[in-house]
Amino acid sequence: MQFGSFALVLLLGAHGVVAQLDVLAKLAGKQYFGSAVDNPALADKPYVRQLTNRLDFSQLTPSNTMKWETIQPQRGVFNFTGGDEIVKLAQRNGQKVRGHTCLWHSQLAPWVEAGKFDNATLHEIIHDHCYKMVRHYRGDVGFDVSWIVSWDVVNEAFEDDGTFRKTVFYNTTGLTYFDTVFRSARAADPKAKLYINDYNLEGLGPKSDAVAALVKDLKARGVPIDGIGVQGHLILGRVPTTIKENFQRFADLGVEVAITELDIRMELPVTPEKLEQQRKDYETVIAACRAVKKCIGVTIWDYTDKYSWVPGWFEGEGAALPWDEDLKKKPAYNGIASGWLPPRRA
Ligand SMILES: *[C@@H]1O[C@H](CO)[C@@H](O)[C@H](O)[C@H]1NC(C)=O
Ligand SMILES: *[C@@H]1O[C@H](CO)[C@@H](O)[C@H](O)[C@H]1NC(C)=O
Ligand SMILES: *[C@@H]1O[C@H](CO)[C@@H](O)[C@H](O)[C@H]1NC(C)=O
Repeated sequence: MQFGSFALVLLLGAHGVVAQLDVLAKLAGKQYFGSAVDNPALADKPYVRQLTNRLDFSQLTPSNTMKWETIQPQRGVFNFTGGDEIVKLAQRNGQKVRGHTCLWHSQLAPWVEAGKFDNATLHEIIHDHCYKMVRHYRGDVGFDVSWIVSWDVVNEAFEDDGTFRKTVFYNTTGLTYFDTVFRSARAADPKAKLYINDYNLEGLGPKSDAVAALVKDLKARGVPIDGIGVQGHLILGRVPTTIKENFQRFADLGVEVAITELDIRMELPVTPEKLEQQRKDYETVIAACRAVKKCIGVTIWDYTDKYSWVPGWFEGEGAALPWDEDLKKKPAYNGIASGWLPPRRA
């Protein structure tokens, strides 16, 4: 059955018709292919038309409006407006959502650090924040089903050398904030898959070793964690060679793996050679996910260069996504498509 479908796709490929990204992800046995989206872009109609094309994307991640500074800008004052807008859009179009994120040191409301709360109080604040947000998206805005498939419960808790990042959460509570925030998320939505999410986690290395060790420890202590989110903010021509091996080692811990924020940036200007390298790089990453059964899906960090975070963050770099600034498909699109197909026999 699956083989027949692949044959059909290959046949279509031979006739110059490329099957679409979510269709191919599903044929490869994955749950979704998706895109992040930020609320201001929703005013752009052509953009929204492609974003809600379910043949390419069956999953959305709000890139900003579920972060702490937006959700709880002052203690006890919750603002779900932006998050609701994206979840409702996704629901109208039959797309799933990954919630992002309960705890992150960046884009954190200033009051959380400024309050210099003691350990016990910060635990209460962490619980209150995560529980109320996750609970809200489980159904409190009138959704008939839980539309959130997973949550990035903790984001970027490690330094690249594998040491714990010295955030206000770590400094005040030690490692106990992990227990509290994962338990709060589980209590709020028992069905959602709960993730730890980070960057520079694609290949083997000190940071992925540290995350693997923490996940092992949390699981051993009965703390509810279901997945490791590998962000995938990569650089042209520098895709790690150990992705598959690393994902398999994560999967062997008894958790699922997802690529949550994929983009592959290049030094500008764009050239045909760089676009070809980018096509290959996307194919390599997708093929690694395809090859590991428990890599359950891939999300790109927005789909068009028009709204990518890269140029605003890395000077002189950009063009990281599979659609260009005019919403036209780049070679990277075909790289993703072929990454989902089984390797061709020589
Ligand atoms: C709530 O958040 C949205 C962004 O998601 C913002 O536009 C709006 O001004 C906020 N509302 C209040 C009352 O702060
Ligand atoms: C946490 O403590 C370290 C020193 O151990 C300090 O460098 C860092 O700034 C502190 N972080 C916060 C958010 O206060
Ligand atoms: C914070 O409190 C918890 C108990 O709720 C305790 O286990 C932990 O050691 C405390 N952390 C620090 C850094 O004092």
